Amino acid sequence: MIKHCLFPAAGYGTRFLPATKSMPKEMMPIVNKPLIEYGVDEAIQAGMSSMAVVTGRGKSSLMDHFDKNYELEHQIQGTNKEPLLDDIRSLIDSAQYTFIRQREMKGLGHAILTGKELVGDNPFAVVLADDLCISEQEGVLAQMAALYRQFRCSIVAVEEVPESETHKYGVIAGEHLSDDLIRITDMVEKPEQGTAPSNLAIIGRYILTPDIFDILQDTKPGKGGEIQITDALLEQAKSGCVIAYKFKGKRFDCGSVEGYIEATNYCYQNVYLKGSKVKIDRSSTKKV
Ligand code: G1P
Repeated sequence: MIKHCLFPAAGYGTRFLPATKSMPKEMMPIVNKPLIEYGVDEAIQAGMSSMAVVTGRGKSSLMDHFDKNYELEHQIQGTNKEPLLDDIRSLIDSAQYTFIRQREMKGLGHAILTGKELVGDNPFAVVLADDLCISEQEGVLAQMAALYRQFRCSIVAVEEVPESETHKYGVIAGEHLSDDLIRITDMVEKPEQGTAPSNLAIIGRYILTPDIFDILQDTKPGKGGEIQITDALLEQAKSGCVIAYKFKGKRFDCGSVEGYIEATNYCYQNVYLKGSKVKIDRSSTKKV
């Protein structure tokens, strides 16, 4: 039912400089896959088939990654390395990829508004690729899409964080509908230490109803002088139709060096070693 997934990917990734000087932060690999590929995989698993990427200057490798590379395909054809392309080939064949440039960095809310042209008047998901979500069963977006079918409201994924961390996130509060569902009545973008309305932090997975675009159009710059999706969602929540969901699974903050390393170690043990289709012969001298 939700077809579109939006990937805001115009940010500079300054915390990883110099690695991100000419490489998009969304292309940073967790073991052998770029971060954005994990997000696209999650969206496809949730039944979505239209990936809309909001890019910026210097991000053309994102476009290339989701396109064929004929030279490489030709070189690798018939070798034992060919299966290494299976996953990305399947992602390319399973969805349409569209791209739009955000010319000015005016915040996450502005990036999402920029994606309106690609998403149209439809409910859509948003994935912030530097929040890597790994779930043993259903992916986090699939869990959220099921909730959307039930509530027909915007859904934001949240997790409990220590009090000392709340200033790094959008933080929500509201009325508990069940152990893992909260009807949002309050939300604050990066509250000052000691002022957070709860310890439930928004992580980078959203399902948004399209009326959010009109709200974003009228949203004034907030925290950091940027147009914040959190502020627009608080406005939308006045209608009682924004739900927070304590998702099932693990989430790594790959926007920080510590989270990135943690994700790399976890994925190496639990994703790469378990799922690896190819035994790379490290003694081989033939380079492809
Ligand atoms: C953004 C959102 C914030 C959310 C966070 C999740 O912040 O503005 O509300 O909690 O993503 O990762 P950023 O991390 O881009 O500063």
